[in-house]
Amino acid sequence: MIFYFTGTGNSLAAAKALAEEQEPLINLADANREKAYRYTVEKGGRIGFVFPEYCSTLCKPVLEFVRNLEVKGNPYCFAVITCGGVISFAAGMLRHELAQRGIRLCYAAFVRMPNNAVFYSETPDDSKQTRLLGKADIKLAALKEKLKAHPVRAVRGGLLAEKSQPILIKSSKTAPFRAEASCTGCGACAKRCPEQAIRMENGKPVWVKDSCAICMACISRCPVGAIEYGDKTAGRRRYVHPSLR
Ligand SMILES: Cc1cc2nc3c(=O)[nH]c(=O)nc-3n(C[C@H](O)[C@H](O)[C@H](O)COP(=O)(O)O)c2cc1C
Ligand code: SF4
Ligand code: SF4
Repeated sequence: MIFYFTGTGNSLAAAKALAEEQEPLINLADANREKAYRYTVEKGGRIGFVFPEYCSTLCKPVLEFVRNLEVKGNPYCFAVITCGGVISFAAGMLRHELAQRGIRLCYAAFVRMPNNAVFYSETPDDSKQTRLLGKADIKLAALKEKLKAHPVRAVRGGLLAEKSQPILIKSSKTAPFRAEASCTGCGACAKRCPEQAIRMENGKPVWVKDSCAICMACISRCPVGAIEYGDKTAGRRRYVHPSLR
């Protein structure tokens, strides 16, 4: 079974590309909401984690899920982390967190995909997206084959990812979010938010939690581009994986 987290679709597409036929794909944000933390894997089976890198560290939903997880069956365990290009330290932290739950992370890989972090920078244009997604498809197909043999490779590091947690938490404030007048009140942002941080009030979204997962789902997937974040995002392209457009 593969546990995934996604804001803008890259990691969902990666999880689908890696899954074997009939292998369950479990959205770990849904699992967090439902407190579904207990899983049993049949003998010789596997679990995988597929999620985005945030600020060189683990994002909140992944941490919450892993810190509660109970897995029976001693499965093979791997992780595939999607990222926008910066070298990642998140796998080492995941290894450490899983070890606390009695799970050995045997293998981790990174797949570069288009950067979705519109708070921080411009996102790639169409031709760069196409190029990156084409390369990612090739890497994912190779990883799918490789993972069949349950490879084992030391997963190192983690300290830098631990140190990046305060940076991520500091960046997670919802106060700068706002919906502009073009908002149609469709409610998609509230429905999709993995943290239940958005509530519709009088036909408009209101961010009701102080902080969130900063997954970019609301700001990037609003059908009319009505959401802005402080003065950082006006005029910037929103990135969404083609499978979610
Ligand atoms: C808050 C935030 C921080 C990010 N930090 C990093 C980073 O440190 N390194 C990196 O390579 N990509 C970073 N990214 C880019 C994402 O990891 C990348 O676009 C990912 O594939 C998005 O996955 P998703 O579409 O499944 O949400 C960041 C994205 C967000 C939203
Ligand atoms: S997704 Fe966009 S249009 Fe729909 S309610 Fe949210 S902000 Fe408004
Ligand atoms: S408020 Fe927006 S960015 Fe924050 S977790 Fe919800 S959907 Fe993601």
